[in-house]
Amino acid sequence: MFTTTLLDWFALNGRDLPWRHTQDPYAIWLSEIILQQTRIQQGMDYWLRFMQRWPQVADLAAATEDEVLRLWQGLGYYSRARNLHTAAQQIVAQGGFPTTLEGIRALKGVGDYTAAAIGSIAFGLPAAVVDGNVYRLLARHYGIDTPINTTRGKAEFTELAQSLLPTDQPATFNQAMMDFGAIQCTPTSPKCVVCPLQESCEALRTGRIGELPVKERKLKIQTVHLTYIYIRCNGKTAIHRRPAGGIWQGLWEPWSPLPTSPKGEDTHLDGKHSPLGELEGAVLLRKDVKHVLTHRILLADFYLLEVQAPPTLPDDYIWVDEADLDRYAFPRLIQILFEAL
Ligand code: ADE
Ligand code: SF4
Repeated sequence: MFTTTLLDWFALNGRDLPWRHTQDPYAIWLSEIILQQTRIQQGMDYWLRFMQRWPQVADLAAATEDEVLRLWQGLGYYSRARNLHTAAQQIVAQGGFPTTLEGIRALKGVGDYTAAAIGSIAFGLPAAVVDGNVYRLLARHYGIDTPINTTRGKAEFTELAQSLLPTDQPATFNQAMMDFGAIQCTPTSPKCVVCPLQESCEALRTGRIGELPVKERKLKIQTVHLTYIYIRCNGKTAIHRRPAGGIWQGLWEPWSPLPTSPKGEDTHLDGKHSPLGELEGAVLLRKDVKHVLTHRILLADFYLLEVQAPPTLPDDYIWVDEADLDRYAFPRLIQILFEAL
């Protein structure tokens, strides 16, 4: 139902683009590379210029990189141009354009999306393309709120697109999906009133068009350096309980004399940073022990400081017998320190 409606819509509304009048894999590949980060209108000019200057892949392969970069000028993302040139030479070296999905995917600058586009359009391979247009249309029509920028989302939407693809006309289906997303089910103000899928559209029925597709906010992962000093004094060691409100709330840890650096700059124990002269003599046990949290990576340095007289510590530290440490709950990171002792 979805597929038939989509194909009917495409027959009437599909865009007339120059690379849709050819079966030449070189011409189709070139169009897909150009369109990776470029609008159709601008991309069209460049595609025509490239095809005129280098009508066949061997011509492009024989050009100098400088020539390719010069004709690419204005399109941006120049690694695309360099990859294009390298791939042209790959194709020539292989004796022709690869005809399998794996072969196409192995070309420099070709990812899953581009491989599916070229494979389906040039060779009729039954591979569904999943680009921004496809995510949006499927998320809305089927009311799927799995975040599209996650591994799970990518797998779910790819599987759905693949199940909808008619294996006898993958090229038409894929380009219909792209055009439908670009013309009909647009990011803002989709034309639901005149949409042939309005009867079956879940987002329209439930009023969730503005919420779909869902993107997970990717927080920047921060690296934080920590220093822990295990003080050994007459069979006892100093620990304190982590306060409420932060990570490891209520768990215990040995002395951490240096503030956790918010910017992640180096706060390793050295002469300059050492807050107490008596820390000299601390022995490094382990350096940069990595501990991965959801939005942070901790890198911890562990020291052992053996002293005869207990140093003065902040009020919340207590001295406990080393033999009694197993009565307290410690974060996994601190257990690694204990193992290093
Ligand atoms: N964007 C990327 N490839 C496309 C294609 N073949 N048709 C329309 N838009 C596209
Ligand atoms: Fe997209 Fe609206 Fe059509 Fe649903 S009804 S597929 S939201 S254009």
